[in-house]
Amino acid sequence: MSAAKTDFNDRLLSLGLARVAEQAALASASLVGRGDEKAADQAAVNAMREQLNLLDIAGVVVIGEGERDEAPMLFIGEEVGTGNGPGVDIALDPLEGTTLTAKDMPNALTVIAMGPRGSMLHAPDVYMDKLAVGPGYPEGVVNLDMTPRERVEALAKAKNCTPADITVCILERPRHEAMIAEVRETGASIRLITDGDVAGVMHCAESEVTGIDMYMGQGGAPEGVLAAAALKCMGGQIYGRLLFRNDDERGRAAKAGIADLDRVYDRDEMVTADVIFAATGVTGGSLLPRIKREPGWVETTTLLMRSKTGSVRRMSYRTPTWPHDDA
Ligand code: FBP
Repeated sequence: MSAAKTDFNDRLLSLGLARVAEQAALASASLVGRGDEKAADQAAVNAMREQLNLLDIAGVVVIGEGERDEAPMLFIGEEVGTGNGPGVDIALDPLEGTTLTAKDMPNALTVIAMGPRGSMLHAPDVYMDKLAVGPGYPEGVVNLDMTPRERVEALAKAKNCTPADITVCILERPRHEAMIAEVRETGASIRLITDGDVAGVMHCAESEVTGIDMYMGQGGAPEGVLAAAALKCMGGQIYGRLLFRNDDERGRAAKAGIADLDRVYDRDEMVTADVIFAATGVTGGSLLPRIKREPGWVETTTLLMRSKTGSVRRMSYRTPTWPHDDA
């Protein structure tokens, strides 16, 4: 790949990014509710890669489908794009919520973020302890060193309400039982989700629509960086600490160039420069409607955002299902 310029025209590239997210969603549309996670994911991966390779960028996947030996496509380090354009980092999850898609449950999304080369944390595929709130609160109003109770109480104070008026989103997992119990003791409400914590975090940024004030708990580290990219555009705070369960996972950190294993990353440390972000709804939720399939056409809605301007667009796209030239 030829040497690439380091700046990128995010304004022009953003529509291309939206098309990447759209096409990945369209590819998985016929697999919604069919009980086959793998097929849905594979369809989204293939389409996302194909569309990415049409873009005039010299892209490198930094958050992808896994390490090179684990993922045949969109692996970490894979070069994408035509090579004729700016050098960019790409973070992606072609189908965030494979099980949600297979079971037709809310908030499965196709997700992709793009920023200048070197702008995103190369998070290894381990867990991350995450904590997020939406915009409008003082920096550090909650932090990862607080107990769940302290977080709820601090946020209620900042919002000028009682803990009973706070709603927290948490992944329903046995590892979160104690956290769930402690949050419940404060009187706060909990929106339990079975999967999809990128959407879970993004819900905090539009709390007036989604009803969610705070996200907390352990989920995938790659999803943490994608969520940080989303909040950089929408506003809000996210903190993440990588969690390592064994030597293999610590080895992944070393490979990703991470030396301080206990470090807490804030949003702008996970995503250090302005980025663009696109997500298309596969199954519907409070952020984005689901893919609509009707005889003759299919329609998607994509959230397209730029952190430089804080612009948030929701774009609907309808395309015929009869054979046509899409070039
Ligand atoms: P997939 O789309 O890869 O299935 O991931 C869904 C997800 O729920 C993420 O949103 C979340 O970060 C992670 O899995 C949680 O991992 P686990 O299921 O191991 O608790």
